[in-house]
Amino acid sequence: MKYLVFETPLEAERYAANRIAEIISFRPDCVLGLATGATMEGVYAELVRLYRARQVSFHFCTTFNLDEYIGLPPHDRNSYHFFMKKNLFSQVDLEPDRAHVPDGCAADLAQACAEYEEMIRKAGGLDLQLLGIGHSGHIGFNEPGSAADSKTRVVELCEETMRQNGIYFDAARGEKMPGRAVSMGLGTILAARELLLIATGSRKAEIIRKALQGEISTAVPASLIQRHPDLTVVLDREAAAKLA
Ligand code: GLP
Repeated sequence: MKYLVFETPLEAERYAANRIAEIISFRPDCVLGLATGATMEGVYAELVRLYRARQVSFHFCTTFNLDEYIGLPPHDRNSYHFFMKKNLFSQVDLEPDRAHVPDGCAADLAQACAEYEEMIRKAGGLDLQLLGIGHSGHIGFNEPGSAADSKTRVVELCEETMRQNGIYFDAARGEKMPGRAVSMGLGTILAARELLLIATGSRKAEIIRKALQGEISTAVPASLIQRHPDLTVVLDREAAAKLA
């Protein structure tokens, strides 16, 4: 495991974006696992900047996102389809038919999950999986208790995640956070050839300590990444504050 601790969130986000750009420069047709969440907004902003400066092109890349809420269509502003389109897909030269996000509105969700796994396999597996971390210790939406070998599937969101992400849903506008999502499994994530986890801010310090220096246990799903042979963790000083 490689840790990198930066003074500010911006520097951490820039490092993560540059590592992604570097992977693309080595292998223009790489397969990237992408993530959502506030932390990723800065990472994608930097990737868009690099694209505009002609320092990276996504033209030959294939991407697979980690997760999506069940029941939110792509045009819903709280969906991860919407997030990805707004922050990255519409801003760079990624081919739309090679940018994949799980379908949270499929009539047959189990079948859609199996097909998502098959698409990742057919693409040759994930070269890099970008990860954020939830306060519950989730990666993707793999909540505590998720099996280490789990694949893309329907998951129930835990109370802590309902609290953490619930703030983005505006009840006054009739928005309600779904209690379920489709998520790549821990097995899918751990099979990626490289993992890049980024966390910033003091609110992440405790879960970062548990995930990186605590016991490896499905009670803290992110702790399973400690076993990965090619893991880089990018933090700012505040998120790293509780590490030994
Ligand atoms: C959501 C995503 C996770 C991500 C987390 C981090 O819950 N499903 O994949 O790790 O957000 O969120 P933030 O960056 O907003 O703290």
